[in-house]
Amino acid sequence: MRKKLVVGNWKMNGGLATNAKLLHALAGGWDARAGRALAVCVPFPYLGQAQAALMGTTIRWGAQNASEHAAGAYTGEVAASMLAEFGCHYAIVGHSERRQRYRESDAEVAAKASAVLAAGLTPIACVGETLAEREAGATEAVVLRQLDAVLLALSGAAKGMVVAYEPVWAIGTGKTARPEEAQAVHATLRARLEASGAGDVPLLYGGSVKGDNAAALFAQKDIDGALVGGASLQANEFLAIAGA
Ligand code: PGA
Repeated sequence: MRKKLVVGNWKMNGGLATNAKLLHALAGGWDARAGRALAVCVPFPYLGQAQAALMGTTIRWGAQNASEHAAGAYTGEVAASMLAEFGCHYAIVGHSERRQRYRESDAEVAAKASAVLAAGLTPIACVGETLAEREAGATEAVVLRQLDAVLLALSGAAKGMVVAYEPVWAIGTGKTARPEEAQAVHATLRARLEASGAGDVPLLYGGSVKGDNAAALFAQKDIDGALVGGASLQANEFLAIAGA
């Protein structure tokens, strides 16, 4: 069986004092156990703080975005090589909030995934349909289009990524996809990954995952863990998900 991976996405939340408490609670409260892995993706300015707090623990850390470029005149951007210097293991790419609010295209997301891999980190590539797309019966077409762009860019290196399925209508809304609903999409993604020689890539589910719904999701055949937003800001809730 694939290892279960639970990754927190703090989004644009936190501050030095609240982070210190949260990281301390996670470091103290997480019992490393076989078959489970835990990570947090924090805002860029707090990478050093996460590194200092989590170094020497089994909890990994990462960022929520990265530039597709290696270096140069890209004001406000952060290169994957910079993330590597702060010990990041992961960088999320293509989160729906970035696709929607910052107009990131499939091609840009794929280029970011490549840049992250090239810097020695693991990209967590997000895919997911909007409510309108789901209602139009386009869920499969949308997630496969998003995944294919990344697979094309990574080609043989796709084995080194993580994929997160996050239905946009389930993010931060309290509406979770039913476990069977999520599994159906995961099975589609898994088939495509297998066809690309990357069948063992961890497939995370994201969208209103909580301590009380995680176990049912994790029981699905192709759900290998979770990408957790809101609930990752509360140590107890996040640890409950990780232990589910
Ligand atoms: P949520 O966010 O858990 O708050 O729904 C998930 C995400 O956006 O990664």
